[in-house]
Amino acid sequence: MNFSKKRVLITGGSGFLGSHLCERLLAEGNDILCLDNFFTGTKENIIHLLDNPNFELLRHDVTFPLYVEVDEIYNLACPASPIHYQFDPVQTTKTCVHGAINMLGLAKRVKAKIFQASTSEVYGDPQVHPQPESYWGRVNPIGFRSCYDEGKRCAETLFFDYNRQHQLRIKVGRIFNTYGPRMHPHDGRVVSNFIVQALQNEPITVYGDGSQTRSFCYVDDLIDAFVGIMDTDDAFTGPMNMGNPGEFTIRELAEMVIEITGSASKLSFKPLPSDDPLQRRPDITLAKEMIDWQPSITLEQGLQPTIAYFDQLLSQAK
Ligand SMILES: NC(=O)c1ccc[n+]([C@@H]2O[C@H](COP(=O)([O-])OP(=O)(O)OC[C@H]3O[C@@H](n4cnc5c(N)ncnc54)[C@H](O)[C@@H]3O)[C@@H](O)[C@H]2O)c1
Repeated sequence: MNFSKKRVLITGGSGFLGSHLCERLLAEGNDILCLDNFFTGTKENIIHLLDNPNFELLRHDVTFPLYVEVDEIYNLACPASPIHYQFDPVQTTKTCVHGAINMLGLAKRVKAKIFQASTSEVYGDPQVHPQPESYWGRVNPIGFRSCYDEGKRCAETLFFDYNRQHQLRIKVGRIFNTYGPRMHPHDGRVVSNFIVQALQNEPITVYGDGSQTRSFCYVDDLIDAFVGIMDTDDAFTGPMNMGNPGEFTIRELAEMVIEITGSASKLSFKPLPSDDPLQRRPDITLAKEMIDWQPSITLEQGLQPTIAYFDQLLSQAK
């Protein structure tokens, strides 16, 4: 018997990040229970894992209670892009809040360690750049993004109260913009938008003049941070920023995508939406100190497999 083998529950396991985490933890010899309600995730994302005897798939909604024996829980279930989380905002808040309550309740009952996939959106429209974990944020409680931003903030509150009140072992990661294969092709995010437009030789839509900056973390780097924070001493809870501090203008990203795809696309400029932040960049000092982590994959390197993924997806759809 393998005593180091852990039973790991991954909620949202058939989504973009979840499917990569399933792969990684399976490869490390663990027993994986992948839970998903398939709102934005798909079976295609994990179909190659279904034959593995250490992999189980459970169709379940985290807003309902669950009882399973596990050692660790990674709570990723939640639509992540504005198009998806604004589709049913009430359900988004329920997924964040009831989902956290149900998974924390489960962790308490079975004494599991639990990770929360939080977000840079907890900083809202920040007045501090880059954002350290100590910054409390500037969030609109009643806007169109609030179902997600406030839902994720409330989930963090619940995690810390379970830690203080019930001594639960918690780990909170604040994820910044991440990209890679298995992103949803029509989720309205800038990386997938640009790649899909470039591969179809359509105009690339740039909002504003394209001088606003973003940071982009490749998925493999992010998964290293998930596993890294889970392995920290029980006393360490986070929150910990996880993202790539390298900044690129949106125009630079568009030009890089055109170059790698060899596309004939031209840039098409549209007015900047009112809630579009001009700059967002993680301060990852804490991650460097605590888990010796920093992203190692450059944007150019990470775009190659991402473009290859979308290329294959689009050719299958023809
Ligand atoms: N990708 C990013 O850049 C990013 C940034 C910040 C935070 N996050 C967080 O990371 C997590 C994963 O994001 P992702 O990019 O993989 O998104 P995703 O939409 O691909 O994955 C989310 C998964 O959760 C599932 N899900 C949604 N509601 C559910 C529910 N009620 N019950 C069970 N399953 C449910 C979806 O079907 C999907 O498989 C999310 O919690 C998101 O908020 C992601």
